[in-house]
Amino acid sequence: MNIIKPLDQDPNELTDALLDWYDINARELPWRIPPGSMEIPDPYHIWLSEIMLQQTTVVTVIPYFQKFLAKWPKIENLANADLDQVLTAWAGLGYYARARNLHKCAQYITHELHGIFPDNENDLIKLPGVGPYTAAAIAAIAFGKQAAVMDGNIERVMARMFNVTTPLPEAKPHLKELTERMTPAHRAGDYAQAVMDLGSDICGPKILKCAGRCPWEANCAANLTGTADQLPKRKSKSAKPTRRGYAFWAEYQDHIWLCRRPENGLLGGMMEIPSSDWLETPDWDAVPMPQIPIITNWKETPGMVRHSFTHFHLELKVIRLELLEMIELQEGDWFPFSRIEDLAMPTVMMKIIHHLRQPVLDL
Ligand code: ADE
Repeated sequence: MNIIKPLDQDPNELTDALLDWYDINARELPWRIPPGSMEIPDPYHIWLSEIMLQQTTVVTVIPYFQKFLAKWPKIENLANADLDQVLTAWAGLGYYARARNLHKCAQYITHELHGIFPDNENDLIKLPGVGPYTAAAIAAIAFGKQAAVMDGNIERVMARMFNVTTPLPEAKPHLKELTERMTPAHRAGDYAQAVMDLGSDICGPKILKCAGRCPWEANCAANLTGTADQLPKRKSKSAKPTRRGYAFWAEYQDHIWLCRRPENGLLGGMMEIPSSDWLETPDWDAVPMPQIPIITNWKETPGMVRHSFTHFHLELKVIRLELLEMIELQEGDWFPFSRIEDLAMPTVMMKIIHHLRQPVLDL
């Protein structure tokens, strides 16, 4: 078979074909200016959506994006909000460092840059929480700059289009180069979003709907060689380890003892139910029973709470301490149960709360 390689093709013809497809098939998303509209993108909306979309799906992000804009319609409103309010509104999106950086970045832009976003990758990347992907996406989508946007969807489309068989992450620089070659000077933001939509609607990780639908069907090297469903290749990952520990649910009447996690590290600065160290162990037999720090009534509750973080699974058994008076424990404070919902508690801690609040027979 005589295969026409996409690199032999004029990239302008390919991008034009994709943009024509996008003009008809663009997804309607609340942060997006539809193709052909005369509206000007609001950099605040584009930045907010791109921060939320880091490691999170479009479907999950939509209601959060709408909620944030309803609460804080302008960047200065977000800058003037309390960090705890922002963390509370973020609860459920995960990766809370993003919310802390979002707030920091809103304050920086409002107070240091007079509310004006930088319009180029070099300056955008200096903002808190903005990495190379997000800087390129904002530069292209909000400001129409010819910036090569590279996310997981785009990597997959490029790997197939050019039949790149080197596994990820080794293939990343090559895929980036191919993306740079393809990104047009004109409508760069629409182009980036068009590739994202192609990756989401047609060139999916498992389901491919190339036939008769993909504007690049006739040029895609992997489609022509029949390797599309095997790309991109990935180095096999080792299984995630499991860490285990005990959480201490210390209560006095209708109050619970909570503390704040250190600012840096996992769930930085979030409120938590205190716990022993989370140790990577093969099973529970290898987890030392913690020293209960105070003389009190305590019992281990049946069952356990499970949660998965990016790099490990966590299993927590919960020890319930019923105190007879409101004494100060090591670090932290007493909070009424009624305030728990208002605190910025990470999902794993909310799981502990639900676990403890189930009727005893369900435990
Ligand atoms: N994922 C990350 N950014 C996106 C965007 N602007 N549109 C759709 N999906 C995205």
